[in-house]
Amino acid sequence: MRHFLTLLDVSGDEARLILKRAAKIKRKLKEGKAHRPLEGKTLGMIFDKASTRTRVSFEVGMYQLGGHALFLHSDTTQLGRGEPLEDSARVLSGMVDGIMIRTFGHDIVQKFSQHSKVPVINGLTDLTHPCQILADVFTYEEHRGSIEGKTVAWIGDGNNMAHSWINGAVSFGYKLKLACPAGYGPDEKLLAAARILGADVCMFDDTAEAANGADLVTTDVWASMGQEAEQAEREKAFADFQVNDRVMSFASADALFMHCLPAHRGEEVTASVIDGSQSVVWDEAENRLHAQKALLEFFMCH
Ligand code: CP
Ligand code: NVA
Repeated sequence: MRHFLTLLDVSGDEARLILKRAAKIKRKLKEGKAHRPLEGKTLGMIFDKASTRTRVSFEVGMYQLGGHALFLHSDTTQLGRGEPLEDSARVLSGMVDGIMIRTFGHDIVQKFSQHSKVPVINGLTDLTHPCQILADVFTYEEHRGSIEGKTVAWIGDGNNMAHSWINGAVSFGYKLKLACPAGYGPDEKLLAAARILGADVCMFDDTAEAANGADLVTTDVWASMGQEAEQAEREKAFADFQVNDRVMSFASADALFMHCLPAHRGEEVTASVIDGSQSVVWDEAENRLHAQKALLEFFMCH
């Protein structure tokens, strides 16, 4: 039984194949042609955190693929009342054909997957957000062609998205330059593991150095879900780690800007950048749907 808990749960070739399928599936949808390989199949979607894009893209994606998705929030299921994770995994996977989970600790999706009889897809944990990186690379390549050998600059928190960009450097072969405030860098174990697998990742203290010559500049919120109490402290620590016109001026003239969203204009990114001509955030958000349909097909048709 295969699961998708991090991008590295699929090989580089498989990740490429998923993006190739995503392009075909997207084209078919735009041409108004049906593509229903998951007819009669169901996806359970467990949410312990808020979501707009992830919920809608999985739910719409399953419907378009001919299947059905169930929204299960921990507040309104027995999961939130302490039913053991192992029991929930056994029960749910006896009834549905795939499970997507958005939660806090990465250990939760790991434990759940160990007791699941059907594929488990990580819809974001505190450690990684592998569905988002698929959509992000897909979006870059729609606009600029292959990302292999290109330079990506990550500005901001060493969080779940930074970790996914690090893993993406293994699968897709881009060079990654990160600028994070002291004490807010990425997980050292995850970074070391990615480097062993060939990821070309460099750390910088300064946003201009990280952005210098980049083909893509990307960032994310300063305080992720679950870190709301640290907002004020983080605003101070991240004050010099904003993507603004100055930072973008160091990147290549044709560099793109991406953000997984939701964004906070005036914090991690200025309105001039996110609403400017280099930003592809709306395509990026829409591509969650197309990339995940290819992912669902890959995991649920095999
Ligand atoms: N980018 C993303 O995962 O968005 P949601 O939190 O709205 O799902
Ligand atoms: N790092 C953010 C991503 C949201 C999609 C969070 O975890 O809240």
